[in-house]
Amino acid sequence: MTNQDDLFKKIVAHAKEYGFIFPSSEIYDGLAAVYDYGQLGVELKNNIKQAWWRSMVQLHENIVGLDSAIFMHPRIWKASGHVDAFNDPLIDNRDSKKRYRADVLIEDHIAKIEDKIEKEVEKGRKRFGDSFNEKQFRATNQRVIEHQHQIDEIHEKYADCMNRNDLDGLKQMILDLGIVCPRSGTRNWTDVRQFNLMFATKMGSVIDDSDTLYLRPETAQGIFVNFLNVQKSGRMKIPFGIAQIGKAFRNEIVARQFIFRMREFEQMEMQFFVRPGTELEWFNHWKEERLQWHLSFGIPAENYRYHDHEKLAHYANAATDIEFRFPFGFKELEGIHSRTDYDLSRHSEFSGKKLQYFDSEINESYTPYVIETSIGVDRTFLAIFSNSFKEEKLEDGSLRTVLSLPVRLAPYKIAVLPLVKKDGLPEKAREIVSILKNDWMVQYDEKDAIGRRYRRQDAIGTPYCITVDNNTLDDETVTIRHRDNMLQERVNISQLPSFFREKIK
Ligand code: GAP
Repeated sequence: MTNQDDLFKKIVAHAKEYGFIFPSSEIYDGLAAVYDYGQLGVELKNNIKQAWWRSMVQLHENIVGLDSAIFMHPRIWKASGHVDAFNDPLIDNRDSKKRYRADVLIEDHIAKIEDKIEKEVEKGRKRFGDSFNEKQFRATNQRVIEHQHQIDEIHEKYADCMNRNDLDGLKQMILDLGIVCPRSGTRNWTDVRQFNLMFATKMGSVIDDSDTLYLRPETAQGIFVNFLNVQKSGRMKIPFGIAQIGKAFRNEIVARQFIFRMREFEQMEMQFFVRPGTELEWFNHWKEERLQWHLSFGIPAENYRYHDHEKLAHYANAATDIEFRFPFGFKELEGIHSRTDYDLSRHSEFSGKKLQYFDSEINESYTPYVIETSIGVDRTFLAIFSNSFKEEKLEDGSLRTVLSLPVRLAPYKIAVLPLVKKDGLPEKAREIVSILKNDWMVQYDEKDAIGRRYRRQDAIGTPYCITVDNNTLDDETVTIRHRDNMLQERVNISQLPSFFREKIK
């Protein structure tokens, strides 16, 4: 097990132990890739959604919100292409009866070769010490070059099969690469088949094909089909955006990595409608603006990178992912896509309703082009949570686990702790809670020694602890302890609101 695997396990355990995330239906042995957010998880998640909504809707006068239904007319998914093309290639192992995504088996194989490269680099680093030049080593070491060559060859074949939808080709690659089932260890594979990721359900009492509904696999289509409703009722002028936060459902074949890939998850999406011909300008605008939003949480910039798509979906003319360095490597966190007029045109065609906009500035009607920004709430939660999780060795040799969450996202901003449970200190502490609780989430805690209570607040990410002691009763002052540097300062109770207004912006 690598250090990163070990760290990830600790993060998952911490999330459960402190009431952030529980496996769903746990007392019935859980439900794969479905999770429940506990008492602190729901606060952190709501704060993330609030931060996105504020930055996208409330701070942009040309972006408005929407909350469309999860159930939608089934033809919507025909028009959007999801019925015919929202598929993953799956393959079964006949011995273990386990099901896998064929593309993931190949990607995992590539990851193993990448691991070999990293091991060579580590060996080099140890051998050459301070004089080690990693760039030069990667470019000249024979074994590294051979491994990289292997990876490039596999990538090329794999991309070709995926682009041509060549399922036999994918199976042949799995056989040629000698990929075995991780469970049974055999190569007894079935053919590769396409598997549609949408969950289907029935509406009403008549069991008939025409009643089949899908649980939406993205929130975006609810925005497209309401384009005219919002534009007309809100008298919106192009360029303008419609944003929504909501649940999405995908029957993921390979559900791994905790809340990174779930079957029920939440998205925050915004569709920005623009005049045709201006879309690439807006694409670049949103690409930059969305990255700035991520950076506003104070997470170091080196943890984010763009991954521009070279191969584009047939309806897109530009696409990029913002990737984040999760404990298991760089992975997609958000997608920004220039989707042309594909979605509105398809819905026009399938519904028979004209979805156009009259642009009075140029005296022309047209189907607007769309820039989409689409981000997973759960992936953002995982990015922020895992980046905040730290184990620190203190000067006295003890270990402290701290969740250094961005202050504005922390579930509780302040904890109020009477030093002892007597002498009128709890009553004084309760008075302070009453002063602060209308403006901030405040927790009162009187159990255990003060040191343990500080540790508990560190572990859930509370940025400030207020300690009430005997001096408080005499001079109306309290100690404020800061989570990140553990420094303490003395503040007058009457100054607390202005102190926190300044700190928690
Ligand atoms: N409307 C475009 C769209 O849905 P996507 O790349 O399929 O694009 C957008 O999804 C975002 O939704 C991803 O970047 C990711 O953050 C999140 N997401 C997608 N599938 C997910 C899953 N199974 N579990 C958790 N989050 C997911």
